[in-house]
Amino acid sequence: MYFDGRPKETREDLYDREEELQTLRSSLSEPIVLLTGIRRIGKTSILKVLLNEVDIPYALMDVRLPLASYRSLYSTFSEILTQLNRKERVKHVLQGIKGVSVFGLSVSLSWDRDSRTSLIQLMDRVCGVGRAIIAFDEAQNMRGKLGYEVLALLAHSYDYCKNISFILTGSELGLLYDFLRLDDPSSPLYGRHIEEVRVGRFNADRSLDFLERGFQQYNMRAPRDTLEYAVDKLDGIVGWLTEFGHRCVRIGEVRKEVVDEVLELAIRTVQRELSRFSKLNLAVIEAISNGYERWSEIKEYLERKSRRPVYDAELRRHLASLEKRGYISRIDRGKYAIVDPVVKNAFSKNQRRTQV
Ligand SMILES: Nc1ncnc2c1ncn2[C@@H]1O[C@H](COP(=O)(O)OP(=O)(O)OP(=O)(O)O)[C@@H](O)[C@H]1O
Ligand SMILES: [Mg+2]
Repeated sequence: MYFDGRPKETREDLYDREEELQTLRSSLSEPIVLLTGIRRIGKTSILKVLLNEVDIPYALMDVRLPLASYRSLYSTFSEILTQLNRKERVKHVLQGIKGVSVFGLSVSLSWDRDSRTSLIQLMDRVCGVGRAIIAFDEAQNMRGKLGYEVLALLAHSYDYCKNISFILTGSELGLLYDFLRLDDPSSPLYGRHIEEVRVGRFNADRSLDFLERGFQQYNMRAPRDTLEYAVDKLDGIVGWLTEFGHRCVRIGEVRKEVVDEVLELAIRTVQRELSRFSKLNLAVIEAISNGYERWSEIKEYLERKSRRPVYDAELRRHLASLEKRGYISRIDRGKYAIVDPVVKNAFSKNQRRTQV
C-alpha cells in the first residue's frame, strides 16, 4: 500500500523509483555508494527495497544517533556482524579473535580498550567469506569523535575488500561530505571516487498519479481539485504526499484541510530539528520562505524579530550551518533559497510564528 507510513520494503509498495533502483544496483560493483536527497524524499525506502531484492547478504544500520564512544561504535559493528551472520554464516571466521564473542547467531564485540579488536581485521575476515553490503542510513551522523575510525575502515575496505560494498544515505549532504572529507589530504578517503545517486522529487504528473493510485488502493474517491491543491502545496516530496494520503485514509475522506495539517506537521518537524541548535535558525528559514532572500534582507528581518543587532559573523554561522544541513542553498551571490518546497510553503504563511 502506497500510504503506509513506514519506509517501504517491497517494490509492490514502492511507487516508481525504477531508475534509482537500477542505478543503485549497477553501482554495487563500487566500494562506496552514496544515496542522497532531502528529508522525506524516500531514501530509506529505496535502500530497503534494493537490499531485499539483491541476493547479497547485507547489514543495515540506522545511525541517527552519533557515534560518540567506543561503546556505541563497537555496538554498531556487533549489530552489523550479527545481521550478516544471520544471512551468511560469518561466525566461523570470527571465532578465536580476541574481543569477539559469538552466542548462537549473535556476535558481540568488546569495546574495552584492552580487549577490543581492530575493526579493519574484522572486515578483512568478513570480506574473505564472500560478497556483502553494509548500509548506513543517515551516515552523516558518524562524523565527530569516532568518525575517523569509520573513515579508516571505509578506506581500507575501498582498497582491499573487493567483496564489500558500503551504501551511505544522507539527508544532510554538506555534513555527509564533511564526514567523508574526500578533498582533505589528511583524510583516509582522500581522492577516492565515490558514486552518488540522488533521489529527487516527483514532477506534478507523477505526484498526482501517485495520489490517485494510492487512494484507489483504498477504493476512495478523491476530488481532482483537492489532489491538485495537495500537489501544489506538498510538491513532489513523496513522504509528505504519503502523510496526506495516510491521514485521509484514517478519516475516510479526501479533504483539503488535511493538506494544511500536513504543512503544520512539516513546520513542527523543522522546529523540532532546528530548535536544538538555535531559534535564530528557524527565523532564517522563515525569512527566506517569505521572500527575504538576500543577506541584507535576512539580517534586517532577524533584527526586526529579535529586536537586537545581529552580527555578520552570527548570521554567517547560521547560514553556513543551514546550508550544510541541506535546508537552504545559495543560489546567487548573497541570495539564498529554501531547498525543500514543503518547508518553504509551510513557513511562508507563518511570519510571526517564531519567537526569537
Ligand atoms: N516511492 C515511494 N512510494 C510510496 N511511498 C513512498 C515512496 N518513497 C517513500 N515513501 C513513503 O514516504 C515516507 C518517507 O520515506 P522514507 O522514510 O523512505 O524517506 P527518507 O528520505 O528516508 O526520509 P528521512 O529523511 O525522514 O529519513 C514513508 O512514509 C514512505 O513509506
Ligand atoms: Mg530515512
